[in-house]
Amino acid sequence: MMSHQSKFSKVPAHLAIIMDGNGRWAKARMLQRIIGHQRGVETVKRVVEECSNLGIRYLTLFAFSAENWFRPKTEVKALMLLLKHYIMAETNRMINDNIRFRVIGNRPELPPDVLHHLDEASRVTAGNSGMTLTLALSYGARQEIAAAARRIAVEIAGGRLSPDGVDEATFAGFLDTSDMPDPDFLIRTSGEMRISNFLLWQLAYTELYFTEKNWPDFDRDELHKALVHYQSRERRFGKTSDQVKGRG
Ligand code: FPP
Repeated sequence: MMSHQSKFSKVPAHLAIIMDGNGRWAKARMLQRIIGHQRGVETVKRVVEECSNLGIRYLTLFAFSAENWFRPKTEVKALMLLLKHYIMAETNRMINDNIRFRVIGNRPELPPDVLHHLDEASRVTAGNSGMTLTLALSYGARQEIAAAARRIAVEIAGGRLSPDGVDEATFAGFLDTSDMPDPDFLIRTSGEMRISNFLLWQLAYTELYFTEKNWPDFDRDELHKALVHYQSRERRFGKTSDQVKGRG
């Protein structure tokens, strides 16, 4: 663990990942898509363990989008089953590794048995102080932003908030991610260069990284490669380079 830490002078406090390319990985091998998702779960385990070892504070994985419900029923069913098995098998490891687990997204749309296991994992890991692992499930950023706007409207209608009081910080407080810092770094696998309705508000200043590797092939070396890339990025938040370096 120490040797990993010394390899990186800085790691993102919050790493977000769009896990993509399970289907293409399987197709290239004449396998069923679900085999690709199964291999994808192995990558999830690997990445969670490594990020936790590296001292990343928040890891947020886009596991199932609000739009993914429109995939063939059999694939949706298989993904939900994989998710349930993952949680059942990994909760103890999360406890051992001091990982705090949570879910963002439209929870009521998830099957009740899956939700039960997700809630149980969140409950038993709530007091952990290590990495926060967040799964975005049935998640869509526009839906999240619209829901925040609705809740703000209710507060205003009830006289508990004034329209003038709705600034960026207030708004962020009504999002699913209210208690997390914005992602510093976003990785998307499989060569697609899109955000696909993931954390639209939160990604405003995030460094973006795209790799051609499909998610099942995203191994520890690929993660390290991405993190080395992150180290070399200068984050200016709209300022000049000299200002950031304290010369401005
Ligand atoms: C993208 O591949 C991946 C998904 C839609 C789901 C991601 C799910 C997993 C990695 C497994 C379940 C998750 C957990 C956390 C246990 P794709 O199907 O869009 O691939 P394609 O674009 O090549 O078709």
